[in-house]
Amino acid sequence: MKPKYLTMRASTSATFLLLLLVYPTATVPTPPPSTTDTVSTQSPSSSSTSSTLDPQQLRALQFLHISTTHSPCTRLSCDTATPFRHLLSLDLTSCPSDVHLSTTLLSALSTLTSLTFLNCHIPVVHFPTSLSNNLHSFTSVNSLQRLTGVFLSRFHNLTHLYISGDPIKASGIRIITSNMKSLNSITLSNTRLTGYLPKDWNPNLTHVDFSKNKLKGTIPTSLTLLKNLKVLNFSSNNLNGVIPNSFGDLISLQNVSLSSNSLSGPIPGSVSAIPGLVHLDLSSNQLNGVIPEFISEMKELKYLNLENNHFHGVLPFDASFIKRLDVFKIGGNDDLCYNHSTISTDMNLGIALCDKHGMPILPPPATNEPSSSVADLVRGGGDEGDGGDDDTEKKNQVNVNRGPSKVLLGVAIGLSAMVFLIIFLILLFKC
Ligand SMILES: *[C@@H]1O[C@H](CO)[C@@H](O)[C@H](O)[C@H]1NC(C)=O
Ligand SMILES: *[C@@H]1O[C@H](CO)[C@@H](O)[C@H](O)[C@H]1NC(C)=O
Ligand SMILES: *[C@@H]1O[C@H](CO)[C@@H](O)[C@H](O)[C@H]1NC(C)=O
Ligand SMILES: *[C@@H]1O[C@H](CO)[C@@H](O)[C@H](O)[C@H]1NC(C)=O
Ligand SMILES: *[C@@H]1O[C@H](CO)[C@@H](O)[C@H](O)[C@H]1NC(C)=O
Repeated sequence: MKPKYLTMRASTSATFLLLLLVYPTATVPTPPPSTTDTVSTQSPSSSSTSSTLDPQQLRALQFLHISTTHSPCTRLSCDTATPFRHLLSLDLTSCPSDVHLSTTLLSALSTLTSLTFLNCHIPVVHFPTSLSNNLHSFTSVNSLQRLTGVFLSRFHNLTHLYISGDPIKASGIRIITSNMKSLNSITLSNTRLTGYLPKDWNPNLTHVDFSKNKLKGTIPTSLTLLKNLKVLNFSSNNLNGVIPNSFGDLISLQNVSLSSNSLSGPIPGSVSAIPGLVHLDLSSNQLNGVIPEFISEMKELKYLNLENNHFHGVLPFDASFIKRLDVFKIGGNDDLCYNHSTISTDMNLGIALCDKHGMPILPPPATNEPSSSVADLVRGGGDEGDGGDDDTEKKNQVNVNRGPSKVLLGVAIGLSAMVFLIIFLILLFKC
């Protein structure tokens, strides 16, 4: 099989030159192109395997300033129809400013099943029904202007919908998705969406990203019916309420972010049932309760961010768990503390030390410090000490002055070595 997506760029002289260099090695025997603009529209397929694109589609590509030298189907995904082949997939990247869409143009391209706009700032136009029905994948990143929910809702047969950075005028997500029965993957990120999360979801969804919008309300329990969901991202919205108790029913979940919302309540115990969790980001909410110990038993976990919440009690992790992670952030939890018998003070977790009763004894050091890159964490030394509150306070200071004190030690050793040498020389001289 050919790769599904082949990137196609608006023709520039550079890409044209590149194509000229590459094409002589192609096996299909075709006359060399005379100029960029001449296209062999009328030459019927000389051999049965020749890839001649539908002349109407060739003209559409030219109109979009896409290079049509030689047979575009050697670069683009096409069907195998005769006598003319048809485009299946088209990526428009960084379009020249004079490119415009029209319904006629799109009618000529209605065989497409995949259409991508990347940095093409063009106003959206009406899509002919044939194209709307054929599309399985639709992507717009920093591109289409004046998108609406009604416009997107007409893509009934989509499996992949990806919009990022383009505002969508719609009073909720339901309007967009309710007719998309085959949807597997949906990203509507940074699209200024308002309203509530939908209550009914396609059970086949594997990827849901609604990050950076203005969605409000709670996370519906119905979400947790998505047995195939691998990636969930609701970060940077206005969601409130608790994380549903049944959250652990999302047994396929690998990456999840609920960060930067107003969620409250504890981390549900059911999360321990998610076997393949790799990435857990619950930062910048109002979550509370103790941090569950089972998190340290999650074998696949690589990224854990719980910073800027209201967790309390003793952090139930040890140094080896924290070092195993690629990213660990826990700062900004004022009532949380760590036990210096299990975690070295060098780790700079951004939370207080615990006293004997498991209560924080120091204000968290410099809250705005970029907390705990792993490099910082792993560097941790082993000056474990015996308990005592004054003792720990002192240790913290020693810790801060660590660099200079090492220099002092070096100077002291150097000086005493010199003195020793002088005495030795004097003794030798006397002898
Ligand atoms: C797309 O959807 C329409 C209407 O929803 C349906 O009639 C048609 O068979 C579908 N086409 C494909 C290619 O799935
Ligand atoms: C979900 O996926 C299965 C298997 O791929 C398919 O048979 C089923 O029709 C899909 N269901 C929906 C609602 O798309
Ligand atoms: C969630 O989305 C934000 C913003 O789009 C992104 O930075 C973050 O990496 C995403 N997290 C996950 C787990 O996909
Ligand atoms: C999931 O998270 C891991 C660890 O942070 C990251 O390396 C990976 O790219 C993420 N995958 C997806 C699909 O976001
Ligand atoms: C700190 O850890 C040690 C050793 O595991 C344990 O004996 C002690 O009770 C812990 N202190 C607190 C406050 O949890």
